[in-house]
Amino acid sequence: MLPRSEIRGKPLQVPVLCRRVMFFLPLSGTALLLAGCGGIQSALDPAGEEAQEVAKLFWVMTAGFAVIWAGVVLLALHAARWKRQPVSEKAAGRLIFWGGAVFPVTVLTLLLTYALWLMPGLRPFVAPSASGLEVEVVGHQFWWHVVYRGADGREVISANEIRLPAGERVSFTLRSADMIHSFWVPVVAGKMDLIPGRTNRLSVVAKRPGTYRGQCAEFCGTSHALMAFPAVVMAADDFRAWLSARSAPSAGLDASAAGASIFRDQNCGACHRVSGTEASGTSGPDLSHVGSRLSIGAGLLANSEEEIARFVSHSGLIKPGSRMPAYAGLPSAAQTELARWLKALQ
Ligand code: CUA
Repeated sequence: MLPRSEIRGKPLQVPVLCRRVMFFLPLSGTALLLAGCGGIQSALDPAGEEAQEVAKLFWVMTAGFAVIWAGVVLLALHAARWKRQPVSEKAAGRLIFWGGAVFPVTVLTLLLTYALWLMPGLRPFVAPSASGLEVEVVGHQFWWHVVYRGADGREVISANEIRLPAGERVSFTLRSADMIHSFWVPVVAGKMDLIPGRTNRLSVVAKRPGTYRGQCAEFCGTSHALMAFPAVVMAADDFRAWLSARSAPSAGLDASAAGASIFRDQNCGACHRVSGTEASGTSGPDLSHVGSRLSIGAGLLANSEEEIARFVSHSGLIKPGSRMPAYAGLPSAAQTELARWLKALQ
């Protein structure tokens, strides 16, 4: 072993470029990390009561971690540079007992107690009947079936988009038709799994109106990453007007249009439902008001006639593993007519 005087020796010569990289790396890393603190899918930019609690827990944990990390770094510097006398065995034993056992147990107990104390607020049990609105969400590979049930028992069926009234408690009933999925709108609340054969509940209060994004948070197959949805928090009155408009067939429904007969001829109604027509399939997303949704393909494409036609003709390419067959053989003019008819279902 080298004597201490030789270990101390000359400082390492770090090339200038290397030093600059070492200086800017933490800065750019911090900038990247901070970029994750905002946006439509950030749990650190909460717009709901439950997400606020989650964000609070995160910041308390981060502050705790930062203080402890700084303390450990200071101790390491102290040991390496400032104080070089060897410590006695008794002092080392004390350090290990207090610093290695008592301190971590105390800190972890405090943080765990705080997290457990927050939990009842994060997962309040609210029976569906006790809240005004119940939203049933059923996960499918790779889309979301959504049913709104008002206090009056009226049902509105939709898909691949969630709308919530600001400031009101909403009970979600979560189920799955095939795999385990996970329903997560980070801006509004924590995530909850959708498990085959089981009904899970999630109760949320969205607060800040805006358009956010939800995402399936449990790997469920090839297109798991493409199983997203827009989540729109609306002023309570706007929400009620929106829901009321959705409880009737679309005003843009034209049963005599060319697209309507293509929809019938291709038997699209075997999988899709369109309110006000004979189409009542349930194995694919409800299309009653598909033209007014913010996206198509579950948060995947902009909602335009062109993108609808593209999805109909290349569903498997756009969403690998999708159960929707690709209608690439449908003449281009027919694709356009079909897309125009669907887009009109506002
Ligand atoms: Cu559904 Cu991942």
